[in-house]
Parts: sequence; structure tokens; C-alpha cells
Amino acid sequence: MIPVSEPRVGEQELVYVNECLRTGWISSAGRFIEEFEARWAAYCGMPFGIAVSNGTVALEAAVACLDLKPGDEVILPTFTIISCAQAVVFGGGVPVLVDADPRTWCMDVDQVAAKITSRTRAIMPVHIYGHPVDMAPLWALAEQHGLAIVEDAAEAHGATYRGQRCGGLGDLSCFSFYANKIITTGEGGMILTKDAKLAERARSLRNLCFRPERRFYHTELGHNFRLTNLQAAVGLAQLERIDDLLAHKRWMGRRYGELLAGIPGLTLPVEEPWATNVYWMYGIVLDEATGMDAVEFARRLKAHGVETRPFFLGMHEQPALWEQGLFQGEHYPVAERIARQGLYLPSGLTLTEAQMVQVVATVKECLA
Ligand SMILES: Cc1ncc(COP(=O)(O)O)c(C=O)c1O
Repeated sequence: MIPVSEPRVGEQELVYVNECLRTGWISSAGRFIEEFEARWAAYCGMPFGIAVSNGTVALEAAVACLDLKPGDEVILPTFTIISCAQAVVFGGGVPVLVDADPRTWCMDVDQVAAKITSRTRAIMPVHIYGHPVDMAPLWALAEQHGLAIVEDAAEAHGATYRGQRCGGLGDLSCFSFYANKIITTGEGGMILTKDAKLAERARSLRNLCFRPERRFYHTELGHNFRLTNLQAAVGLAQLERIDDLLAHKRWMGRRYGELLAGIPGLTLPVEEPWATNVYWMYGIVLDEATGMDAVEFARRLKAHGVETRPFFLGMHEQPALWEQGLFQGEHYPVAERIARQGLYLPSGLTLTEAQMVQVVATVKECLA
């Protein structure tokens, strides 16, 4: 079976992890946490980094920093992971959805203005499968209406929008370093921000809101969202090799594009002129004319030794969110279509040229 994703772990990770083990700095203090935060923030062009235990809680802490009041709204794409919508719900706000752009699969930024009300507090763009969101229209709306931008760059490490790195494009940005991400710490995440006060707030929320004036004294309830020095050691070693990791992803994206070009029935990822796509996962969308949906296609590919993953299922199609009184009866046709017809091919950092050739031959066979 050609796996959908495998992490690429190198020698330097072992050296740094060994240092943690030898010196006893295995918990959530130590040099690797501070270095990983500082280096990742600098890489993305943001002054402050707060490492946390995963991308889901990065979003929760970032939304908590907005201090939403009941009824405050945050606009986000329906086509994303549930972490985004539930961060808004847990933060006391109301998620408001827009459809996906049929080319990039990111939020359709042209639909955002119509969703802004007097209760809107923030926009949450999510860079999907490695392609950046078109940020300029969102910046204009944020400026005009006094909204915060909470960027979800979990899937777009190193991608750029008009020359600026994703994760440096909002007031707060969130990352995941799960094992399938370009930079991984096994499990892990980070919040970046330009604002010293927001950084302090996020740091406090991460660590149970301990007050500085007295140990075990609290004026607010927080969380244990801490990352360990062991995990940060892995992340720092990975970050030192990020150019190689990104080069592999970009090569994979290009090569799949060449190999799949001209096969009828498939829509392939794009790279808009204002973006660099890092092809975190190489998605394809199957035409209905093939007579198959993604579930059937994935079943056939798996039977021939190719593992895939289905695309996201929109937030407006989630019973867990209907139960919150959200989104019932709403429809977003682009997200609904790509959720049914889309899947991603093996895209990991260990994928070889020979495996890609085999994947594409299998795709052709399964379409025939
Ligand atoms: C866009 C996006 N946001 C957030 C997350 C959540 O990250 P984690 O799995 O680290 O909680 C993911 C996870 O894959 C994601 O793809």
C-alpha cells in the first residue's frame, strides 16, 4: 500500500531529542520550546510565537483571545476541519459560513461582505491543502469594519501570498504540527501574533492562567495547552530542513501535475498567480461524468494498493453543529460537490517518483 502520508524524520531530530532526555528537560520548559517559537515566528514574519499541544487548541486559544460576547460572529469557510467552527462555539461566538472557491477550494472571499453584520468580530481564512486564501479582499473588509483576522495556516507551512508567508497575514495565526503536516512535532501547534498583549494572553491561557504575582492564584480560567520540550526539539530539527521539505512538496505538486495532465474526468489543484502552493496534500476532484463519487474511487484505488483520504465534509453538513442550532437548511454547492467528488492522493514527504508513477497508473486504471 502506498500510504497517503508519512513523516520524514532525520538525524538531527534524534540529536535534539537525546539532548532533552540526557539533560532531563522533557516537559514544557527548556531551550527547544523557546527556540522553536522564536524561529517559527521569525520564519513567518511575526514577532511572537506561542507553542501549544495541537492545532485545534491553537484555534481555541486564538479565538479566546478575541473575547467574544454571546452572539458575536466569526466568518469562516464551510469547507474546513471542525476545529475551526468549534473554536468559535467554545469561544462563545457564532460561526457564520461561506462557500468554497471552486478553483482553490479555499473560502470564496467574494461571499464574505454579504455575511458581515453588526455582530461580526472576525474572519477566519483557512489555507486549504497548501494553497493560500486570497487575503487582500479580507484585509480591506477587516479594515473597513474593524474585524480581526484569525488565520488558519495549519496546512500551508511555507506557502506565500503575494510574497508574504502564510501565518504572517492576520492578527493571530494558528498552526498544526501533526504528523502529516510539513513540519511536524508528532502532535503540536502554535499561535503567532503581531500583538504583544495578545501574545501574553495566549501564553496565559496555555498555562492555566497562573498570575505572575503569586503562584497558584488565578483571576481567569485557562487550559493546559502546553507543548513539551521533546516535541519542540523535533520541530526545531524539522524547521532547520524546511527548505528541503518544501522543495519536495513543490516537486511532488509539479510532477503529479505533469503525470495527471490530460486525463479526462479530473480537476487538479491550481496555483494562482499571486500564490505559491506548497501542495500539503495533492487533491483531485472527480467529474460526475465518470459515474463515480470519491468514496467509490477511493475504494477502487485502495484495492489496487493506493491509500487516499476524502476531502472535508462542510461544516453545514455536521450533525454536531446542527445540535448547536447552527446551519440547518443552509447550502453551499461548491463545498457540497467537492466533499463528494474530492480526495487526496498519497502526498507524504517520503513519496518517491516511482510511487507517483504507480499512483497515476492506478488512477488511470481505476477511471477506465
Ligand atoms: C486546517 C486545519 N486546521 C486545524 C487543524 C487541527 O490541527 P490538529 O490536528 O493539530 O489539532 C487541522 C488538522 O489537520 C487542519 O487541517
